[in-house]
Amino acid sequence: MSNEAGGLFLSFEGIDGSGKSTQARLLADRLRALGREVVLTREPGGSPGAEEIRRLVLTGDRQRWSAETEILLFTAARRDHLERTIRPALARGAVVITDRFADSTRLYQGTTRGDLRDVVDRLHALVIGVEPDLTVLIDMDPALALARSLRRLGGDTAEALPEDRFEAFGLGFQQRLRQGYLALAAQEPERIAVIDGGRPAGEIAQDVARVALSRLMPA
Ligand code: ADP
Ligand code: TYD
Repeated sequence: MSNEAGGLFLSFEGIDGSGKSTQARLLADRLRALGREVVLTREPGGSPGAEEIRRLVLTGDRQRWSAETEILLFTAARRDHLERTIRPALARGAVVITDRFADSTRLYQGTTRGDLRDVVDRLHALVIGVEPDLTVLIDMDPALALARSLRRLGGDTAEALPEDRFEAFGLGFQQRLRQGYLALAAQEPERIAVIDGGRPAGEIAQDVARVALSRLMPA
């Protein structure tokens, strides 16, 4: 979705607790140091309306929404995020880095909880219709990621309601997610770069910067 203004659209994907937000932030810092305008954003969320939807989908009982209803809610949030945040930023030449985008819906709602991939793809084509220029998949062992997430939830007192509906689906769910993400990356090797997340953050950040810079400044 890069454009004449020089904008570039990057997403981070991976299972819960894989280090996406950490790496998204480190990449944003690195690109800002190079003088680029960077809009660091996230899904669900990234615009005032989408942040309201975030609260609805991430809090409460795990049975609160069916996978079908979630597809509609996440896609509604994404449409607002695209209209209000992503498109305007790209139009002025910024780099947009989003912590999750449509691949999360493909995996979390489309395959891991039943076979709804066709619904996800058709709705995406109808109302979203864009993909990131580059997606960084932070791949890691779900047991390690879950341990990190639980540590974080335990220590986080600032959040009024825990955003843990998906962590609550358990380790087997995260393992299916991981396999699904790797399969998606194998299908779309041009767009999706797989980076080993089971290492110190600085090492991962070096690899992430290398792939991102190769897209920003092709040789
Ligand atoms: P995500 O956005 O994928 O949920 P976070 O970036 O929030 O992941 O990281 C989850 C937890 O793991 C946080 O407590 C974070 O500080 C920690 N963390 C992130 N990257 C690493 C790393 N490479 N090594 C060890 N801990 C990490
Ligand atoms: P996030 O805040 O990135 O959680 P984490 O830091 O644990 O990775 O995302 C919130 C949750 O929302 C996460 O469990 C994945 C889920 N999600 C979906 O199920 N579908 C979607 O389309 C998106 C964007 C997120």
